[in-house]
Amino acid sequence: MGEKRATLGGRLSAVLVAAGSAVGLGNIWRFPYIAGENGGGAFLIIYIACILLLGVPVLLAEFTVGRHTHLNSVGAYRTLSKRWAFLGYNSVISSLLILGFYFVVSGWTLEYFITSLSGSISEYTHSAVNAERFAEFTTNPLRPIVCTVLFALLTHAVIALGVQKGIERSSKLMMPILFVMLIVIAARSIALPFGLEGVEFFLKPDFSKVTAKTFLDAMGQAFFSLSIGLGCMITYSSYFNDKTNLQKTAFNVIALDTLVAVLAGLAIFPAVFSADIEPTSGPSLVFVTLPSIFNTMTFGPFWSALFFLLLILAALTSTISLHEVLTAYLHEERGLSRTKAAWVVTIVTTLLACASSLSLGVWGDFKICGLNLFDSLDFVTANILLPLGGLLTSIFAGWVLDRKILRTEISDHGSMRCRLFGLLVVLLRYVCPALLLWIFLYNLGIFRF
Ligand code: PHE
Repeated sequence: MGEKRATLGGRLSAVLVAAGSAVGLGNIWRFPYIAGENGGGAFLIIYIACILLLGVPVLLAEFTVGRHTHLNSVGAYRTLSKRWAFLGYNSVISSLLILGFYFVVSGWTLEYFITSLSGSISEYTHSAVNAERFAEFTTNPLRPIVCTVLFALLTHAVIALGVQKGIERSSKLMMPILFVMLIVIAARSIALPFGLEGVEFFLKPDFSKVTAKTFLDAMGQAFFSLSIGLGCMITYSSYFNDKTNLQKTAFNVIALDTLVAVLAGLAIFPAVFSADIEPTSGPSLVFVTLPSIFNTMTFGPFWSALFFLLLILAALTSTISLHEVLTAYLHEERGLSRTKAAWVVTIVTTLLACASSLSLGVWGDFKICGLNLFDSLDFVTANILLPLGGLLTSIFAGWVLDRKILRTEISDHGSMRCRLFGLLVVLLRYVCPALLLWIFLYNLGIFRF
């Protein structure tokens, strides 16, 4: 190929780009409803424990693999150990399958943003009506597909600009905007009548709702939210320069990702309580419950547009990272030019996403193990491929990878102290594999108690 591989500018770029991948629909759409179903504050505590026990070690392991090799996920594993190249393919397949449903939900955010801008969101006054409209929209054979395609093209546009001009610049622009918007929305929500009850629900632990499944949900959510277990962070860290401090970058990414999830809870639960709605309404919380709440506020359509724009930005920085895993693979491993690689990825993932959107409506009869295509993509990635990827990544980093490489990368060639290195190795060797094996078997229905 001969051309010089891109690297990201400074430390801030590394943090914002990786945080862009991590912060996504997982934080704003998924985290609040899972927390709502699992005892609010109790879930938050368990989630933070999972982040510390699993998230930190696996993220550092992925950063090490990526930055050391400066290659896409397949190339990176192959360089470190030929026998482990398959783990890179797991990452390519997972990214493809995640985009298959992530583009669809991202498309919905686009639709709701447009509905808010046009003012017709003011007709979404009751949850029952909203639920009907949401079902009508998502099962429609045309409109959600148009939104999905638009979202895929938006992602393509950023990827086509390249790593520095596209990914780096867009993350540096979008992430700060996202933060400010989220803080404004959370402040508005908390100030609503009875808003503080929502804060209390979200932050006060209710351990009576905690079951074995709560722990599994928290672990799965930690992986999904940090974009780990599928080589996304390997691809991104392969663009880090040698001065990037991996420990600090990992810490900042994790802190930002968790902060956004907490702020999203603070934006959503006070509003839900102030409208006297059950806080456990599941995945439709954002698309069904929230519009009627916005309508009780002065300038409702404005708040609604702001919220859905926030979701669009969060989703976009994540779809870009998933797209990049595939584009970098096709470009570096299969010898396609970057432009061609990006188009192949956009076309294939869009077709898959269109099929999965149709599976919510007209193609609903086509089932894989009792699930439609959309749900199976979600299930297979979140419950099987990500924990499996995390399990194998921790085994690889703990048992196969040369300890010297791990130490050199994590200590930035000896310039950083890493007092907890021994603990990191123990977590990677024993704790992560044991916990992840449990999730994996449980999700396959094999090991339940
Ligand atoms: N972390 C993203 C989110 O929270 C989703 C994602 C998963 C993105 C895996 C890339 C890779 O929404």
